[in-house]
Amino acid sequence: MKTLGIGLLGFGTVGTGVVLGLQKNQALLENRTGLKLELRRVADLDLERDRGVSLPEGVLTRDAAAVVASPEVDIVVELIGGRNAARDLITQALQRGKPVVTANKALLAEHGAELFALAAEKGADIFFEASVGAGIPLIRALREGLVSNQIRSIYGILNGTCNYILTRMEQKGLSFATALKEAQKAGYTEADPALDIDGIDTAHKAVILASLAYGFNVPMRSVAVEGIQGLDALDLRYAAELGYRIKMLAVIEQENGEVAVRVCPTLVPVAHILASVSGEFNAVLIKGDEVGDVLCYGKGAGRDPTASAVLSDVVDAARNLVFHAARRAPGFVGYNAQGKLKAVGESDVRYYLRLTLLDKPGVFGQIATILGQHDIGLASVLQKEKSAGRQVPVVIITHHGKEKEFQAALDELDKLPVIGARTVRFRIEDF
Ligand code: HSE
Repeated sequence: MKTLGIGLLGFGTVGTGVVLGLQKNQALLENRTGLKLELRRVADLDLERDRGVSLPEGVLTRDAAAVVASPEVDIVVELIGGRNAARDLITQALQRGKPVVTANKALLAEHGAELFALAAEKGADIFFEASVGAGIPLIRALREGLVSNQIRSIYGILNGTCNYILTRMEQKGLSFATALKEAQKAGYTEADPALDIDGIDTAHKAVILASLAYGFNVPMRSVAVEGIQGLDALDLRYAAELGYRIKMLAVIEQENGEVAVRVCPTLVPVAHILASVSGEFNAVLIKGDEVGDVLCYGKGAGRDPTASAVLSDVVDAARNLVFHAARRAPGFVGYNAQGKLKAVGESDVRYYLRLTLLDKPGVFGQIATILGQHDIGLASVLQKEKSAGRQVPVVIITHHGKEKEFQAALDELDKLPVIGARTVRFRIEDF
């Protein structure tokens, strides 16, 4: 049986999952692939920590560059995360023509173009199934299973931490801080959890999906991003009363050849399938012109689900090496030189607005007039409390309007003397 050597860079949570997965399912992997996958080197700065898994003598080292260079290592698995060291090491591996498996969404979102170009030049593969949706075989679905489709839109719950926090706040009434602590303890969060709760991690994943779907490099700076920090449990309750759940959603849409990507907490109708995705689970709804709707669902964060995706890539890399079929499945191909981004503010949207409004005659008229001047109609209005002469929360569900008109209307509204606090707003997605 042919044996291939694996060099693992990063022995943290996911790295440990990869080692455990290789050990646990070694026989199964051999039976299914006809190959022996041997972990020959593991690099990490921490040589002492007990990870609950043992490595053969001499495998663990601090010298990641030596792992990449080792003639015993055929496939490099990068699970260090972060940008600089990971980028250097992946570059070194590709320079040597070695295939790379990575879960590093931040690196691919920001430097993917350069790394994929180098891989193409060197005839080497970059596999990145674990970068989006962890355990869900989503990259393969988009790149291979749906290759004959024009992708109309993608709606994704792509961050396990955000989804976990929102679920725990809604279902158990936990505070944001407590729910975040639980997510950290469970190993869902990034090393810096701000990346999760500020929406950056979701945006990284969204640009990878958008670039794959539309064939040009969609840059991070083009994504409108809002996080869930500061989200008030009040809005989760009001949204529920109105028949919605708040989900951290990535929306990737193409209209008239222009692509728009946004990431924000969004009201999803309770009856829609994405509303029932809870905890650390992710789900991605892809709309293709031939296939119609496809839903991919599974654990989007955590040690073992992420390791499952990494190991699927290791197998692909190994088989490509053995069959001399490197680049059989393209990493990312920039085939669409005409690819365009939609101008900011031009999307058609509708909103949930929570105004803090003085409860006195005539104020609704002022609000409706300003919204009307920006061509925004009201679908429903709900005054949540009655307290004449005082400020009360008022929830408005709007009809569709132009994003930039909403922005201008809200700027005007918040200057009115009858408004007591900045208006809270969430987009509503009708799919
Ligand atoms: N921190 C990420 C999440 C891990 O919560 O989804 C998986 O990419």
